[in-house]
Amino acid sequence: MIQRNDPCWCGSGKKYKKCHLFEDEKHQSMTEPVAQPVLRRSRKERKYVKSAREINGMERAGAFNGELLDYIRPFVKAGISTGEIDSLVHDYTVEHGHIPACLGYRGYPKSVCTSVNNIVCHGIPSSGVVLKEGDIVNVDLTTIVDGYYGDSSETFFIGTVPENVRHLVMVTAEALIRGIDAARAGAPLSAIADAIEPFVNNQGCSVVHQYTGHGIGRKFHEHFSVYHHHDSDADRITLLPGMTFTIEPMINTGGWEVITDRDDGWTVRTADGSLSAQFEHTILITEGPAKVLTLTPSQKAAGVRLSVDGVNFT
Ligand code: MF3
Ligand code: CO
Ligand code: CO
Repeated sequence: MIQRNDPCWCGSGKKYKKCHLFEDEKHQSMTEPVAQPVLRRSRKERKYVKSAREINGMERAGAFNGELLDYIRPFVKAGISTGEIDSLVHDYTVEHGHIPACLGYRGYPKSVCTSVNNIVCHGIPSSGVVLKEGDIVNVDLTTIVDGYYGDSSETFFIGTVPENVRHLVMVTAEALIRGIDAARAGAPLSAIADAIEPFVNNQGCSVVHQYTGHGIGRKFHEHFSVYHHHDSDADRITLLPGMTFTIEPMINTGGWEVITDRDDGWTVRTADGSLSAQFEHTILITEGPAKVLTLTPSQKAAGVRLSVDGVNFT
């Protein structure tokens, strides 16, 4: 290979570095394939890549799930019970010809998860749980549309919340956005956790380890697990265009440890009683930035990926 100080290949008599080196390098960078690791994907990784037809199904499921989130948004106010939220979600879904994915999933009794304050995830809606001023609640929706799953969630403020609680929720929203930004073809799956965990820790919060995002498609939870904290398993998977999965960080004001209620087998709480928030989107890996499949109509109209109490995350 021609060296910097060799005579240029063009015959000018000048040194290569003084002549065509710059031009050649420019040309090389323009013609280089963008995401080279894609060419070296393993069979296992290819298995996770969806076909055009499947991607179309995922887009439609994501779009409906987004529509459902905008529908439920104005109801999530002080005085409503989480049981009523469940009925609204169930009826809207069924009236549109779709299936609430949670209902009956591994025996789960309701159509939506409503996780209030120190509940991390999988809170079961109940007529006895009435939202009150100062609460935070995560509403996690999953819908089956013509066989494909859409999965997304937001944490809502009930009225005005204390400043430290607001901080938790904003950090969690930003954690999701940072995770989505890191989810690029050619990057290892661990890039997502690397974008989330140090940021969250710097903000004085912690990342739940026990629950992760997940592949999603014609099944609710497909391979692979999308870690939000460091796990060496995530170094072994390379992200490829056509992969669809969720990112759904659960962030606590206290420690990351969680406990599951013995009584119902579902409700997951922070072990130390601290508060927990979560946001979730279903995304598609493309050649460029990841595409958010579960954008709501209001998010699409505003050109944002999340909007939390007037704060926009573009
Ligand atoms: N929607 C949750 C997720 O993001 C899963 C809920 S499973 C249920 O993965 F059974 F609790 F509904
Ligand atoms: Co999910
Ligand atoms: Co979910």
